Amino acid sequence: MEEKTGTRGSGPLRIRDIRVVVTAPEGHNLIVVIVETEEPGLRGLGCATYAYRPHAVTACIERHLRPLLIGRDARNIADLYQLVHYNAYWRNGPVVNNALSGIDMALWDLKGREAGMPLYQLFGGACRDGATVYWHANGDTLEEVEASVQAHLEAGVSHVRVQFSGYGGAKEADWAGSRPPGIYYDPAAYRRSALKALGHIRDRFGEAVELLHDVHERLHPAEAVAFAREVEPLKLFFLEDPLPPEQLDWMGRLRQASATPIAIGELFTHPAEWTTLVARREVDFLRMHLSAMGGLTPARKAAILAEAFGVRTAWHGPPDQSPVGHAACLHLDLASPNFGIREGGRFSEALREVFPGCPETRHGRMYASGLPGLGVDFNEAAAAAFPPNEAVTEWTQARRPDGSLNPP
Ligand code: CO
Repeated sequence: MEEKTGTRGSGPLRIRDIRVVVTAPEGHNLIVVIVETEEPGLRGLGCATYAYRPHAVTACIERHLRPLLIGRDARNIADLYQLVHYNAYWRNGPVVNNALSGIDMALWDLKGREAGMPLYQLFGGACRDGATVYWHANGDTLEEVEASVQAHLEAGVSHVRVQFSGYGGAKEADWAGSRPPGIYYDPAAYRRSALKALGHIRDRFGEAVELLHDVHERLHPAEAVAFAREVEPLKLFFLEDPLPPEQLDWMGRLRQASATPIAIGELFTHPAEWTTLVARREVDFLRMHLSAMGGLTPARKAAILAEAFGVRTAWHGPPDQSPVGHAACLHLDLASPNFGIREGGRFSEALREVFPGCPETRHGRMYASGLPGLGVDFNEAAAAAFPPNEAVTEWTQARRPDGSLNPP
């Protein structure tokens, strides 16, 4: 039999150019990386969204990574990941990780486009048709929170993250006076109001709703341990980010104190942060921000490691992540046996216009577009109508009652 020659993928597919676009259709700076190849029309898209340092990420890609990568073989994802990761000698920071993620996701997108398959197929195929999502419910009164939960249930979403007055119960800590600007926050008032709201929703809706809650790293470690015990009778689906990354050695104590499932990781940028927690079985759901950890390559590895230890995934899915980044999470979700839950996924008309092929959520599950690669495209002309947001970041300036800064 004659040997088949010219198999696709056997020769190099050279990178011709790399471009970066910052666009803010919803006010959040979304950073899109476009990797173009020598094959006309064949390009990949990646998410490098570090919404609060867009110029640093853009400069890293345009000034450092573009010259490093032009002319190299776009097919060698694992090798190029290592090359970029170690190229600056110092690594694992959010700026360089986001820049790396933009390249890495674009190379995976390219791989799928070239193969003519949705990316989850290249990850081993689908374990499920769609990824179960949780949506956020919020309000300044119990009635508002309840109405928000009711609306989600009516839309078919049964997993709801319940917050009272945002992250901090700010209404109880809304002091007047000559204090530095910021979002005032009283830890004791927060714990009381969050417990009250969660208890109210459990009483009102019973087992019809799966409850989640985000501490957003704002408590001192001992307060976080106590809070995990206080919410235990409410049987949460998970308690999110009880501790900041600087205090991970408290996770063991948290685990011993409470049976409440713990999700953590959106601020992680260093592999030691997640590998250690997983190996000690001190976490139930890993929820890293894919671009901040460096892209799809490290996320796949983390998901596979977690599976071996009985830990599930709940990748971070905030509005300050592009639909390209959301799609990257979704393809992992579809292909990972240990998928836990997907955050958010509600894309406005403006986002859909800029990013045709956005994932869609129906009856509590998120679905990929079915197109090859990540399945999302990018309309640069539409994006140009939404220039970057240059405002100084304010929401991270959380302060305690005495005016001192608190982790946001
Ligand atoms: Co969070």
